[in-house]
Amino acid sequence: MREKPTLLLVDPSHFEVAYVINPWMKPAAWQADPKGHYRAAQEAFAALHEALSGAGAEVRVVQGAAGLPDMVFPANAAVVLDRRAMVARFRFNERRGEEPLFLKAFQSFKAQGLLDTVEQFPKGCFQEGAGDCIWDETRQQFWVGYGQRSVREAAGVVRSFFDASVVPLELVSPRYYHLDTCFLSLSGGEIVYYPPAFSDAARATIRSAVPADMLIEASDEDAEGFCVNAVNFGREIVMARPRDGLRTRLSERGYRVTGVGLDPFILSGGGAYCMTLRLNRHRVAAPLAVAAQ
Ligand code: ARG
Repeated sequence: MREKPTLLLVDPSHFEVAYVINPWMKPAAWQADPKGHYRAAQEAFAALHEALSGAGAEVRVVQGAAGLPDMVFPANAAVVLDRRAMVARFRFNERRGEEPLFLKAFQSFKAQGLLDTVEQFPKGCFQEGAGDCIWDETRQQFWVGYGQRSVREAAGVVRSFFDASVVPLELVSPRYYHLDTCFLSLSGGEIVYYPPAFSDAARATIRSAVPADMLIEASDEDAEGFCVNAVNFGREIVMARPRDGLRTRLSERGYRVTGVGLDPFILSGGGAYCMTLRLNRHRVAAPLAVAAQ
């Protein structure tokens, strides 16, 4: 058995849509029925938790904090690989209060023996965690998004901290402000991406690195439904309600797709991947355990 993926989630008790830092965020819609949206969010979170555990993940939930509604998106908390964590620097003031809390959480993961090293991106070097830094198991490299939330310079910090190859990709659409909203790297080497989110140069980079038969284009609908923002480990994929076309294409390639209704979080511009952070990702996937003879 491969090592179980350990996924960090943040309890949604303090979740709401209270400000606008991306075009999906609709505080007025939330305010029209705060109790209803709140209840729906708690249920959606529970469904996600169940889908991830059901797919074989070990889920760790940490508490959120009052006044930090977007803390439910821990993909933005840090970049983690090989027991090393580099904690984020948020672009917007609205989320900066999360930094000391995530730092503390990661220090405690270190104390619990889950991590060896915890640092933070240098001051002023905006970088929003795994949302803009996606590990590609097949190519053994990070794909790094920049141009919206994270700065290009963060790619160099990632390269040296993790001693890993990084491929920067420029994001050009405010609607697809984190790489994880428009780019998904799957365990079999396939890349799902939404071309309009990228600069011409970034699209060319993706197309030259990934063979055409491994490149899956998401439709407008897939992207708007936050289906590209999916969690994958092994053959399992968990995503916000998949459109039929995408589900079929992924199933044909041998993936098992679990759909979860995440509308209350989409109202804040986030989907399944945003709501998780893999804490035990390793450069070379842990070898299959061989039964003792
Ligand atoms: N409202 C949050 C923000 O704008 C959503 C974050 C979604 N996270 C993600 N990894 N795409 O920052």
